[in-house]
Order: sequence, then C-alpha cells, then structure tokens
Amino acid sequence: ESPVPIPEPPQLPFLGYVTGIDPDNSVISFGRIAENYGEIFRARVPGASLVWISTHALVDEVCDEKRFQKKPNDVITQLRSGLHDGLFTATNDEPNWGIAHRVLMPAFGPKGIRDMFDEMKDIGSQLALKWARHGPHARINAPEDFTRLTLDTIALCSMGFRFNSFYSENLHPFVNAMVEFLLESGRRTQRLPLPSFVYRARDKIYESHVAVLSETAQTVLNERLADPDNDRKDLLTAMIKGRDSLTGQKMSDASIIDNLITFLVAGHETTSGMLSYAMVLREALRLDSPIPVFSVSPAEDTLLAGKYKIHKGEFIQCLLTKAHLDPAVFEDPTAFKPERMLDENFSKLPKNAWKPFGNGARACIGRPFAMQEAILTMAILFQNFNFVLADSDYELRNKQTLTIKPDNFFIRAILRDNLD
Ligand code: HEM
Repeated sequence: ESPVPIPEPPQLPFLGYVTGIDPDNSVISFGRIAENYGEIFRARVPGASLVWISTHALVDEVCDEKRFQKKPNDVITQLRSGLHDGLFTATNDEPNWGIAHRVLMPAFGPKGIRDMFDEMKDIGSQLALKWARHGPHARINAPEDFTRLTLDTIALCSMGFRFNSFYSENLHPFVNAMVEFLLESGRRTQRLPLPSFVYRARDKIYESHVAVLSETAQTVLNERLADPDNDRKDLLTAMIKGRDSLTGQKMSDASIIDNLITFLVAGHETTSGMLSYAMVLREALRLDSPIPVFSVSPAEDTLLAGKYKIHKGEFIQCLLTKAHLDPAVFEDPTAFKPERMLDENFSKLPKNAWKPFGNGARACIGRPFAMQEAILTMAILFQNFNFVLADSDYELRNKQTLTIKPDNFFIRAILRDNLD
C-alpha cells in the first residue's frame, strides 16, 4: 500500500511559515491550521520539518518509545544556552541526562516530596496572608501571584533559597534574569535569518542574563559545599550526595547547576498555569495544558497510522490543545467536567489520552512535586476564601509565553466568615 501524502499548507519561499504564525501565540496559530487540515499536517520552517498531529490515536502511536523518542524542538533547543544538558533540554543520548535522571528520581518520589510538605505550606500560607490582608475588594492578578508562589516554592524546596516574592517590591535579580532569558529564548525561535550582527546587542543582554542564572546557582552550590553539616532534605542535597545507580558516578558541578536552573524554569510557570486554570486539576490540565506541545522523532523512516510517511529525524509535534479534545475519547470534549477525572474514570481512559506531563522516560520528573504543591495550595485557599471573578464578564483568553496561561485574569478573594 502506498503512503498517503501528508497535507502541507502553502508557504512562502525561504521564510516558511515564519510570517504566517503569530509569534506571540504560535501554538494557537498551529492549532488554527490543524482545524483546517485535520489529524495531521506538515509545516516546514527554516531548517526543520514539523509534522503536527492532533488526535488521540496518533499521539498514542508516537508514545511508543521503541519507535519514537523525545527530540528537543526549537524552543527547547534555545533554552540550552542557559540549561545546557540539564534534564529538560538534554537529548536522550547525552550521559548527563541518564545520570541526573537516576540520581534525582528518588528525590522526586513519595518520601522526597513528603519531606517538602512543610516548606510548600510555608509559601502557601504567605499567599493566603497576602490575599487576606488585601481584602475582598482588591483585584488580584491570579497568574502573577501563583507565579510568585511556585517560584518561591521551587527555590525553597530545591535549594533552600528564599526569593521572598510576596514581601519585596523588587524581585531578586535571578528572577528578572530568568524571566528575560525565557522571553528572549522564545523570541529567538522567531528570528528572521538575518546576519548575526543585527542581533548582537540583544545577544549580549541575553548572555548577561544567562550569566546571572549560573552565577547565582554557583553561589548557592558553593555555600552548600562549604557547609557539609547542613542536613536539609532538598534537591540540592540529593544532587550533591547522590550516586548514579548504574555507573556509580556523581553529578558534576556543572550538571548540578544546569539542573538547579532547570527546576526553577520548568517548575514555576507550569504549576502556576495549572493553578490559574484550576480548579480541579486533572481536568484543568486536559483543557489547558501549560505545555501544550511535546515533540518526538522516529529513529527510522516510518509510517504513521500505517499510511503517513515520516522521515527519520523529522519532528512530530503532539498538539495537546487538539488531542486532549478528541471527541473519539472525550464526550462533549470542550466542556469542563471534573467528574471525568475522578479516579475510577481516570483509570479507564484509553492509554495516552491525557499527556500534560509528556511521555515515558522523558515525562515530567516534577509531576508529584507539582501535584502536591497545587493540592496543598488549593486546600489552603478554599479553607480560607470564597472566590469571585473581578470582571464578571471575563471570558478565558490564553496567553502564550513559553507556557500557556490565562491572560488578564483577575479574581477577588473573600475571607470566609466561619474562620475561627
Ligand atoms: C518535563 C509538564 C511541573 C521539572 C516536562 C514535560 C512536560 C512537563 C510536558 C515533557 C517535555 C518534553 O517532552 O519535552 C509539566 C507541567 C507541570 C510541570 C504541566 C505542572 C503542572 C514541573 C515541576 C518541575 C518540573 C514542578 C520541577 C520541580 C521537569 C523536568 C523535566 C520536565 C526536569 C524534564 C524531565 C526529563 O526529560 O528527564 N514537564 N511540568 N516540571 N519537567 Fe515538568
């Protein structure tokens, strides 16, 4: 049987789709193309060919790690200038991925995460206190305050560092450097292929932000190494003391630094996005996955669904904004129905129908961390407050930075009067 051609939207020579894609909302743009082209289409951008897939059946097929592996896409590759071969940005065959993965898995296991409970609660209480003090009339920018929460939590739990974002007007220089680093990494993926001097000034600023990130992490590491009696049970201790079960190796200082920065990057926007969409976490993650696309690639030329020819090395972009709404799996797919995620229903979902944390060995290592943090925060908030929209006619709009979050979303938090 001969392969069925994969539809390909028309494009401009050389520039590919760059001009047709809204750089601030590329996932939404590709989602729109998917609406016209159906389950699969191919898009070529300068230097790469991307196959976008939108149904559960196709995503399920590419989750077979024997045939397809994670291939860091353009966005992830840009992040390498700050994160190098840290867990999130590494390719599967880089040795530091395996070492860090095996050293860190226990730290992200049930006991490791339970040990972080008190510090998570500490930051959650700071958020509740802030909202209580601001009173019932204050317009609260929920995504911003959740970002303060998740950033402070991951910094405290990973390396014992307090950003104190709820107390200071001026955020710690690390935070600013990280935000700017992420923004510019995103912009870099949309650059037109112009000579490099055009971007020289911006590149210099970018490099200075990367330097702040690694210098801060280096200082934290040095301080901890100089204090061997410190018995904090955090990710930094796990990385300094842990040994790879396979090779007996320890993580190098460079790899520890890359992963400290990785945790801050990977651990804050995502979880804050989930909290901003929630209320009921699994269903919120289905409808609005903070990371709406993950990329894999076949080890060999292969046929997808027995008919679509995919070449070795091509990117397959799993478009969760579509696959999570597949009517073949979810009845009334765009409706928010948390009951479909109750344990007894969740366990009956078809394999790979819910992928907000990615796939297989390269799935999110921080998933239990994020879920404990989010459940704890929601418990603290609902014990103490009733919530209303600050703008009663608000309609959800998504904003894409590196992750997806609600745009311009304000709430009011009203203390429950039965507090004793
Ligand atoms: C990987 C989502 C929270 C650390 C991933 C991937 C996804 C994801 C989709 C796979 C990316 C890919 O295939 O390229 C999320 C969501 C979160 C969340 C939706 C919150 C709701 C966290 C937290 C941390 C974290 C709190 C750190 C404490 C990581 C790391 C990886 C990763 C290190 C790379 C793992 C590897 O490849 O070995 N995450 N994440 N994430 N995440 Fe998360």
